[in-house]
Amino acid sequence: MLQKDRPRRRSMVGWYDPRVLAHTAYQVAIANVFGRHSDTRLIEALASQPQSEFDYSLAHAEGDFWLDYAADIGDGWNSTFAIANAIATPELAFEHAGKTEQTRAGHVLVFGGDEVYPYPSRNEYEVRTETPYRMALAGRAKPDVYAIPGNHDWYDSLVAFSRTFCRPERGFAGCATRQTRSYFALKLPANWWLLAIDLQLGADLDEPQVQYFQKVAARMDADARLIFSVPEPRWILEDAYPAHSNYEELSSTRFLEQKVFKREARVFITGDLHFYKRHENAAGVQKITAGGGGAFLHPTHAPDTRKLRNGFEQRAVYPDEKTSLRLTWKNFLFPLINPKSGWLYAFLYAMSAWLASASLEASDVIDLPTALGAALNASVRDPLNGMWLVLIVGGFIFFTDTHLRSWRILGGAFHAVLHLAAAFMVGWVALLLTVRGFDLYYGSISQLLISGLIVFTLGGPVGAFILGVYLFVSIRVFGRHGNEAFSSLRIADYKHWVRFRVDASGMLTLYAIALDRVPRRWRAAKRNGEDTMEAVDPRASAPRLIDRIEVR
Ligand SMILES: [Fe+2]
Repeated sequence: MLQKDRPRRRSMVGWYDPRVLAHTAYQVAIANVFGRHSDTRLIEALASQPQSEFDYSLAHAEGDFWLDYAADIGDGWNSTFAIANAIATPELAFEHAGKTEQTRAGHVLVFGGDEVYPYPSRNEYEVRTETPYRMALAGRAKPDVYAIPGNHDWYDSLVAFSRTFCRPERGFAGCATRQTRSYFALKLPANWWLLAIDLQLGADLDEPQVQYFQKVAARMDADARLIFSVPEPRWILEDAYPAHSNYEELSSTRFLEQKVFKREARVFITGDLHFYKRHENAAGVQKITAGGGGAFLHPTHAPDTRKLRNGFEQRAVYPDEKTSLRLTWKNFLFPLINPKSGWLYAFLYAMSAWLASASLEASDVIDLPTALGAALNASVRDPLNGMWLVLIVGGFIFFTDTHLRSWRILGGAFHAVLHLAAAFMVGWVALLLTVRGFDLYYGSISQLLISGLIVFTLGGPVGAFILGVYLFVSIRVFGRHGNEAFSSLRIADYKHWVRFRVDASGMLTLYAIALDRVPRRWRAAKRNGEDTMEAVDPRASAPRLIDRIEVR
């Protein structure tokens, strides 16, 4: 493979990179403000495509039927390709209950949502998602590929998603695609049905989708057994954030169970949260969260999900709570893991120091307490200083975890005060250095410019460090900011997916398979004449079984 032909191997998305932050905020705002579907023509066109259920019920004529389910894929190369490669491996054997069990790559590959990060575009799907799967499947049997959108796929109203997954004439990564809409039904052997539901951005079911599932339901017989593939684990979210009405599970899946299919689903599977958790109730209904296809790891220790409402209890978790708790310490390395985040703080700190210094006289800065008193005084007396403070505190409150209002105000204000205090201290250090160290006259142009440069240079790493400490305290002491305190760590490891088998007796077995540590180094290789990559990292771990259940 020539150098120019090598795939572009992306690193994990830097969620605190100011450009990613700004673009994500813009896309989320557009998606939320403009009715969540600015181009209704596309949605309508998508919903009017003819689509029946896809029949794999005879696929087990030659033995067991296999299906792979992966969600939250399309992030950094190492994690996304490692999972794609493990899924595409023709056979994987695991020890279970003293026996060796052979599993096989699926006839079908289902993506359960969030197929790309940080936001959907033709190029991002190509580079972060399709290329890794094309190379993983090179020279190997190709499954049929299906996908439902998660919130990240919805940010452009499904334009790029529908191009990638809903055009059978195009295919995906060399595999056949058959769906023409953003939801679908698969008829599996032994009367199992996989029903993949698109809930847009937390909205209700749309009419064409309800009609589609009604038609599918009419063709099911009395013994049909249901598996729901949904875009988010509302059973966890409604429990963790009870005040957030969007997460009530009742609205969509229960409606489908009661009014459309007139029976209960045996298995629910989803991604959205990037860990593996399985909940079960007394009736043996399984609710599986498995968002391990490539995106950064989420914490498993907070919020506490061991017992959910409606009698569901946690039966499996990966990685375990101890590992999750240990990983939170990495937030102290925040400036090193998120180097680009410093630009924002460099700017904020330099602006704060500039505004404060503008209203301080030489007599105000003789010692630290006098300077602090004068700066506080200026923030009340000087409207510009005061407005800047209000803007900073208000901004931090606005951008704080929105699920709990009291935490948003208290945590946000506390966080802002920490930064203002740090900005003051950095400004003080710059003042000492320039006035006492370099012997510059306070208030002279050279003193102001050099101290401004010092504040700008130190402000980045100091501000990023304070954010790391704030995230650490939030998740460790208060169990808040689970998303922010882990997206900050950009952890590529602890990835997983779920493999389904329907055997000749009609039993459904689910295997959750994990890679504890994904490879960091790769080299170009050939497989059956096709270009691929192979890992050259002795520290990478082999796929291992983390959970296995049988459902009838
Ligand atoms: Fe996700």
